Amino acid sequence: MVASVFLNVNGRRHEVVASPATPLLNILRNDLGLNGPKFGCGLGACGACTVLLDGQAARSCSVRLDTAARCANIVTLEGLSADGKDPVQLAFVKAQAAQCGYCLNGMVMTLRAFLDAVPNPDERGLREALKYNFCRCGTHMEILCAAKIAAG
Ligand code: FES
Repeated sequence: MVASVFLNVNGRRHEVVASPATPLLNILRNDLGLNGPKFGCGLGACGACTVLLDGQAARSCSVRLDTAARCANIVTLEGLSADGKDPVQLAFVKAQAAQCGYCLNGMVMTLRAFLDAVPNPDERGLREALKYNFCRCGTHMEILCAAKIAAG
């Protein structure tokens, strides 16, 4: 069964026709052409697909379309800033925290949501915030450096 639903993504309203159980990640990437969120595990475990749902970090591979349609605002990496210069993004560039870069969407989006909720975290808080986002290249120390820069 397919249905027509409306999604508010990065400040724009989109009509989508799909099964209500379709993962939000599939809709974002395949229907809306937003490739910031990545498919990693598809099980809600790795964090590569993270987006913001009404300001909260969420794993879009594990969010159904009909659930996402109830959100007032969905933000993907593309919507964090108009010019790619959100302070968290700039911090990752400054720290040169990417190796393959596949995990960075999840790192950036998770950190953005965390810093919006906790503006002046200590290192322990940053480590806690990112501990369920996986990086297979092993650039964790550079990512932590970026997180410290972003946290000020
Ligand atoms: Fe969604 Fe891994 S792809 S958590």
